[in-house]
Order: sequence, then C-alpha cells, then structure tokens
Amino acid sequence: MKNKVLPDLINRRTFIRKVLAAGSVLFLGFKRKTSSITPFEHITIKNMKLRNRFVRSATYDGYANISGHVTEEQIKLFSDLATGGVGLIITGMTNVHHSGQISPFQNSIASDDCIPGLKSLTDAVHNLGAKIAAELAHAGKEAAWFLGSKNKEAIAPSFVSDDTYFEGKYRKMTEDEISEIVCAFGDGAIRAREAGFDAVQLHGAHAYLLSQFLSPFTNRRIDNWGGPLRNRLRIHQEIYRDIRSKVGEDYPVMIKLGVQDGFQGGLKLEEGILAAKVFAEWGFDVLEISQGLRGEWYEGTEFRTEINSIDKEGYFRSWCKGIKNQVKVPVSLVGGLRSFKLINEIIQNNEADLISLSRPLIREPDLINDWKVGDLHRAKCISCNLCLQAVMSLQKLHCVQRTIADDNDKQGVKSPFYFC
Ligand SMILES: Cc1cc2nc3c(=O)[nH]c(=O)nc-3n(C[C@H](O)[C@H](O)[C@H](O)COP(=O)(O)O)c2cc1C
Ligand code: SF4
Repeated sequence: MKNKVLPDLINRRTFIRKVLAAGSVLFLGFKRKTSSITPFEHITIKNMKLRNRFVRSATYDGYANISGHVTEEQIKLFSDLATGGVGLIITGMTNVHHSGQISPFQNSIASDDCIPGLKSLTDAVHNLGAKIAAELAHAGKEAAWFLGSKNKEAIAPSFVSDDTYFEGKYRKMTEDEISEIVCAFGDGAIRAREAGFDAVQLHGAHAYLLSQFLSPFTNRRIDNWGGPLRNRLRIHQEIYRDIRSKVGEDYPVMIKLGVQDGFQGGLKLEEGILAAKVFAEWGFDVLEISQGLRGEWYEGTEFRTEINSIDKEGYFRSWCKGIKNQVKVPVSLVGGLRSFKLINEIIQNNEADLISLSRPLIREPDLINDWKVGDLHRAKCISCNLCLQAVMSLQKLHCVQRTIADDNDKQGVKSPFYFC
C-alpha cells in the first residue's frame, strides 16, 4: 500500500526531533501565545458551525431498544443536553457491524433500518441549536461478553495469551474480516450523514478495535496489519479513505485517539503523537486526545476517579498540549475537566480548541448554560463512576449521586433523570 506520510515520519532522526520538540512543550514550560478566545466563541469545522467550544464527549447510554434503534427516552436525554447549552453532542459508541456489539442496548448504525430513528434524534438536537456527531465504533475483543451470551465469538487483531487485563473468548481476525469491517465503517458514515448527523467520530481509543490494532501489545500480527507503526495504522488509514470517498471532502470526519496505553508494555506516547500527526495529515478534521488500552481500574483508564482538586483535572492535558503544538487541525481535550477557570485557561493558552466533557454533563446537563450566565460553580460530578457501573450492569445512564438539592438549585425544575 502506498503511503507518502508514514515512511517520512518514521524516519528515526525526524522522529527524535519531533519527540524532543514535544518534550520541550510538555516539560520545559515553553511559553505559548495566549489568545482572547473564550470557550463560548463559535468555531467552524468544515461545514459544521458550533455555537461554542464545549463538546459532550461520546458517552454510551444504554437507551437504545433491543434492535439498536433510538427510543423516545433517548431523544429526551439528548434534548436535555442540547437545551443545556453544549455546542456539539457526540453519541455513545455506535456499532457499525454485528461483530462489534458490546451490549443489547447499544445503538446500531449497521443497517438502513436504523436511519429513521437516528434522524428523529438529530432533528431534535438541531431544533435546540446544538450539533450532533455519531461515534462509529467496533468493540473488537471487548464484544466477547455480549457475543458470548449469543454463542458467538468476538474478533480481534491477534489472540494474546498473556493479556492479564482481559478475560473473554475471542479469536484473531482474517484479512477478509478486516476488509469487511473497513467497509462497515464507511457504510456507517454514509448512514450517519443520511440521518442528519453533522459529523462522524471514529472511536480510536480506550479498549476497542482501533486501539487494539494500534497497540503493539494487542496487535501481534506479522502480516501487513501488524508490526511497525505504519502497519498498525493501516486499518485506520483504510477506514479513513473509505469514509472520505463515501461522504465527500466537506463532511467533518473526527477521531477520538488513544495516544498511550494505561500500562507498561503497551502503546507509548511517542508513537501516539506520531499517529496523531499522521491522522492530521491524512485529513481528519478534529483529534480528541484520550487514552488507549486500559490498565488498572480506574487509575489506568480514561475515566479516572478522585478528581478532587484543580491540579488533578484535565489528566490528558500535557498529551493534548504537545499534539496541539504539532498539528494544524482542531484538537479536543477530554478527561477530568471540572472547573471553568481551568477550561478558560486551556482555551486562552491555545492548548486545545475544544473541551470535551462526559461525566459532568451526566450529573448536570445544563452546566454549560450555568457557566454562560456567569454561575461558574465547579462541576458537581464527584467522579465516583457509579454511572459507569450502572451502564455496565445494563441500567440506563444516570447520575447515581444526583440529589434533590441539585434539582432545587434549578428552582424546582425536576429532571426526569433523577433516580436516587
Ligand atoms: C458512563 C460512561 C460511558 C462512556 N461511553 C463512552 C463511549 O461510548 N465512547 C467513548 O469514546 N467514550 C466513552 N466514555 C468516556 C468519556 O467520553 C470520557 O472520555 C471520560 O469519561 C473522561 O471524561 P470526563 O472526566 O469528562 O468524564 C464513557 C464514559 C462514561 C463515564
Ligand atoms: S454517578 Fe454522578 S457524580 Fe458519580 S461519576 Fe457519574 S455523573 Fe459523576
């Protein structure tokens, strides 16, 4: 396969120079230009204009019906988010192929019968002034639990016998299966555009298929899809090309990228930074910077706990800052952001173009409007992850800590998502 970008980037000297440059920004306190842009400034990405810089980061909600279709309750959940002031809402991981499904209540975009429900969802969000993107995903071996319950086998880049972080049955994918999954991502993107989504985001982070291909720990293939970085990125490149050829140049195609694994022996930051640069060169329109494979729960995961002081917030800030300095496309920071003061500082320092929030908006869907009218309280989310445990036990997404006091703060306007 022809690739003009990777051979050059992987040239060792260039590589060392770039990493040192990143290091000077990350660790030597490089003075960067500040701007007068605030998080409430609009931003235009291809043909998508956002009313502000706040993004609801992709959050699986378990609200789909058993066929993977949108439900009325789900439309209400998204409407509350849109009413709450966020600029862009990214759906939870939406399954592009039956072999990548993680739960019975996950949204699917794997067939045309999903389109009408998804269209109702995008219409509702648009009517409330927000934009919406579909997160396109395949779970890889993380689908083992759900597929196992149906007597089906999950698939992954390789079978890894020494993976102490994963229990479950799965097997190595064939090359034909890889081609089928590439095409499924492209077809998912066409359906997303048809259903009115303003953009798509590839799930290239956390524990799922694209991270499994990128990490040398889970990708032990010795064919064209494994080995050196350019081979471990081949599936991303094929998917990007397939999507772009199907949706056209003007449609925003974004990626959530895990740039480092959560344990020793996995993907290293140096390679993650190279991957981010390559994606920007290929034409991805936004890079959301997160973690790759998970290690210890929760400190080696993307959803960390004990974010009880401002210095613990924004735990991927240094990764994002280093990448922002080296790419020309917008970059989004996610992970543990709770204080407006810090968010404002990050935007003004040009460390990120967009700010992604997940758990704070589960507890307070209207947090952005509060901040906009000058109520700059710290997000009430205490990062306990009980909402995560709830969806993992097949409940619908809700904040377990939400109290009557939260609702009283809103002058008696009671949320239907109050479950205590
Ligand atoms: C309940 C729950 C579900 C999540 N589902 C997804 C998902 O479907 N796709 C994804 O990319 N990230 C998912 N995440 C990760 C979040 O998008 C985000 O990266 C992480 O929670 C850190 O951001 P926060 O501190 O603002 O929550 C999920 C997080 C939570 C808590
Ligand atoms: S249950 Fe509520 S407080 Fe706890 S992490 Fe989830 S949103 Fe935050």
